[in-house]
Amino acid sequence: MKQTIIITGGAGFIGSHVVREFATKYPDYTIVNLDALTYAGNLENLKDVDHLPNYKFEKIDICDAQAVLEVFKKHQPTGVIHLAAESHVDRSIADPSAFVMTNVIGTVNLLNAAREIWNDASTGSAKGYEGKRFHHVSTDEVFGALGSEGFFTEDTKYDPHSPYSASKAASDHFVRAYHDTYGMPMVLTNCSNNYGPNHFPEKLIPLCIHNIINNKPLPIYGDGKYTRDWLFVIDHAKAIDLVFHQGKNGDCYNVGGFNEWQNIDLVKELCQQLDTKLGREPGTSAQLITFVKDRPGHDLRYAIDANKINKELGWYPSVTFEQGLAKTIDWFMDNQEWLNNVTSGDYQKYYDTQYQE
Ligand code: NAD
Ligand code: DAU
Repeated sequence: MKQTIIITGGAGFIGSHVVREFATKYPDYTIVNLDALTYAGNLENLKDVDHLPNYKFEKIDICDAQAVLEVFKKHQPTGVIHLAAESHVDRSIADPSAFVMTNVIGTVNLLNAAREIWNDASTGSAKGYEGKRFHHVSTDEVFGALGSEGFFTEDTKYDPHSPYSASKAASDHFVRAYHDTYGMPMVLTNCSNNYGPNHFPEKLIPLCIHNIINNKPLPIYGDGKYTRDWLFVIDHAKAIDLVFHQGKNGDCYNVGGFNEWQNIDLVKELCQQLDTKLGREPGTSAQLITFVKDRPGHDLRYAIDANKINKELGWYPSVTFEQGLAKTIDWFMDNQEWLNNVTSGDYQKYYDTQYQE
């Protein structure tokens, strides 16, 4: 079936991989990338696919309800894959309001627009919902923090701790509420930490790669024993493709890497691999490791049980962490101009305030 899919946040890290996956795999689909191009959005991330005849771009702020409705009326999407968000936990601690606006209000604006054009909100007719789907892309952070044992499943109770995760939890609840109240056809994915090309260097892995290359300190929050479950971003894009097409209406799917690392071990691994690539003496980059003030409300451990998506849809990560990390490091080494561009402007100002004791 031909489809027109609006992908929000398509100029960001994960969104750009989702746009690429859909635009290249489904030449019959029209892919509309709807993005406000905030500090995290970069059309350079799509330069290899933006010439494709089935790709379109609309610069829209999802907080602008009218603009969102107009763009939905213009393109008449059959599906929405919603990734646009404020995504960085540290920024949410510094300024929670932006997270409420984009992540909560922006999501509701998209749901309202989808309902309006699909369901004819004025009459309540459900006919228009046939063949339609709203895929909400969310995070494992909504489940809170684990101790040293156990995993998040789809049935784990929500327990967000940061303004970021609280805003994502609220958006998840709205998507489910629109399903239960108005019959909105939806699926929801909660994914663990992604890494890979185009990752904005405010997050741990790209920040450390950037700082190792430039001989800058590697800030480790607290004792560095915090644990994350890392997934290569292209495997997340493939999971979204599967769930969007084959997930059960109204269902949620956890997506994870089966790949837990304590931050300190991960950063040491990056140092080791980059010493080799940069021709440095073993142990050189590790000297950049600097323990800094902890993140307030820091969640100790995230770990996803991804057995549902594995059993029901046959998804499993296609690359090992070793392969994914090597591809990621190579990409950053080969794209230092991209790195220099995104780290100019306000970037340094943000980091100068971030790491002050
Ligand atoms: P990102 O910060 O790299 O990109 C976000 C994109 O959204 C940018 O292109 C930005 O311009 C756009 N955007 C922000 N505010 C907007 C607005 N008001 N209107 C329109 N566009 C706007 O984020 P990411 O890391 O690619 O994450 C994408 C999604 O996946 C988010 O919803 C995030 O919660 C979720 N997620 C991320 C991870 C991760 O590890 N990065 C893991 C699980 C889930
Ligand atoms: O779990 C999924 C989430 O992963 C996504 O929903 C978020 O959008 C994404 O940003 C990410 O959140 P984290 O807070 O886990 O990612 P971050 O890269 O910011 O931090 C990873 C770990 O590293 C965390 O324990 C904090 C720590 N850290 C981070 C930075 C930026 C440091 O020790 N030093 C740092 O400089």
